[in-house]
Amino acid sequence: MAFETYAQTRPFARSIAEAAASRKMPPWFADSCCGHFANDPSLKPEEIATLEAWADANAPAGDPQDAPRPRHWTRGWNIAVPDRVFTMPVAKHLPASGDVPYQYVILPTGFQKDRWVSMSEIRPSNRMVVHHAVAYIRPPGSSWLRGAPVGKPFSADDLATTQLRRDAMWTTSDILLVYAPGSLPDSWPAGFAKLIPAGSDIVLQLHYTTHGHAAEDQTSIGLVFAKSAPQKRVLTLQLTNDSFVIPPEDPDYRVEVHGTLPNDALLLSFFPHMHLRGKSFEYNIVAPHGRIRTLLRIPHYDFYWQLSYRLAQPIPLRGGTVLQAVATFDNSRNNAHNPDPESEVRWGEQTWAEMMVGFFDVAVDPAIDKRQFFIRRGRTSQSP
Ligand code: HEM
Repeated sequence: MAFETYAQTRPFARSIAEAAASRKMPPWFADSCCGHFANDPSLKPEEIATLEAWADANAPAGDPQDAPRPRHWTRGWNIAVPDRVFTMPVAKHLPASGDVPYQYVILPTGFQKDRWVSMSEIRPSNRMVVHHAVAYIRPPGSSWLRGAPVGKPFSADDLATTQLRRDAMWTTSDILLVYAPGSLPDSWPAGFAKLIPAGSDIVLQLHYTTHGHAAEDQTSIGLVFAKSAPQKRVLTLQLTNDSFVIPPEDPDYRVEVHGTLPNDALLLSFFPHMHLRGKSFEYNIVAPHGRIRTLLRIPHYDFYWQLSYRLAQPIPLRGGTVLQAVATFDNSRNNAHNPDPESEVRWGEQTWAEMMVGFFDVAVDPAIDKRQFFIRRGRTSQSP
C-alpha cells in the first residue's frame, strides 16, 4: 500500500494508528535500554498521539494548502548515481519449488588501481526470489575459490575439488556489503570508505528461495567511489558460533560467542543474523571482572526484518576489548515461524536450519586490511 496521497492513506487511518501505537511500525527492534542509533525511525509519543487523534477524528483531510509537496522518489538506485555497476553476466534460472543451494558469482572488477567505495547497493532484478546476497571482496593474492568459474552462477556442489567445495562455505575475505529485503544500502560517513584493491574480484553469494513459479534473477551491485582518500577504512567483522545444537521443543536456548578485538578500532554498526527460531540477540563488551556493557539488545528478534543498527556516535574500542554476542532461540511450537519444533537444530544455510552471526562494522587506519588487523600489535590495554 502507498501512503503518498490523502486518498491512498485515508482508508488505512485506523490501521496506521494501531500499527504506530503498538510500535509494530515503523519497524525497529532495538531495546531503548542500550545505545542510540542514527537509523532509528521510532516515532515520538507525541507523533503517535497525533496519528491516533487523527484516526479518532475520522481522518480529516485538513487544509490542502498546508499539504507538504509530493515527495520525490528515487527511481532505480537508492544511492547516488553509481560510478560503476557490475551485473551478473547471465541470469540464474530458478525452479518453481524446492531449496536452492547458495549460488556464487565471481565478477572481476578490472580495477587498475585501488578504489575507495563510499556507497554501495545490491539490486536484485527479481526481489521476490533473493532471500539475501553478500558481496565479498576477493583481492588478487587470495586463493579463495581460485579455479571456480568466473561470471556464471555455481554452487559448492558444482565445484570439482573438495578444497573448492570447502572454500565455498568459509572465507576470511572482507565483506563489501550484505543485502536482505528491507535492508539499507551502505553509505559511509564522510572520511570513511571500504577498499577494493586493484585487481580484485567481487564474489556474490546469493541465497535464492522459490515461490511456486519458475523465475530468474540477474542481480547487480552499484558502487560510488569516495572523492578523496578516506581517513578511515571500514571492515566488516563477525562474531559467529556455528557449533550449537538446539534441542527439540526448547523455548529459550542460549548460544554465545566472544572474541578479543586484536587492535584499536572505531565501532560503527551492527547487523545480527539468525533464522526462523531466532528469539533475541545482544552485543556486549565484557569489561574486567566480568562486568557487562550492552551495546545493542534485540529482545524480540524477527527474521523477516533484517535490519542494521548504526551507532549515532561511533564507539572507540581498544585492542584487547572482549566483545560478546548472545543469542537465544525458540524451538518450541509456540514460535509461529518454527518450521519443525521436533527437530534438533544445527548451523545450516537454509532457513529451516539456524545461524548465529553478529556482524559488526569497524573503522581502522586506511593502510590496514582485515588480515593485518588480526595481527595483534602487542597492546593489551583494558576496554573503555
Ligand atoms: C510511521 C511509519 C509507518 C507507518 C504509519 C506504517 C504503517 C503500516 C501499516 C498500517 C501496515 C499494515 C499493518 C498490519 O498489517 O497490521 C504496515 C505494514 C508494513 N509496513 Fe509499514 N508503516 C510505517 C513504516 C514502515 C517502514 C519504514 C517500512 C520499511 C522499512 C515499512 C514496511 C512495511 C511492511 C513490509 C509491511 C507489511 C508487514 C507484514 O505484512 O507483516 N513500514 N505498515
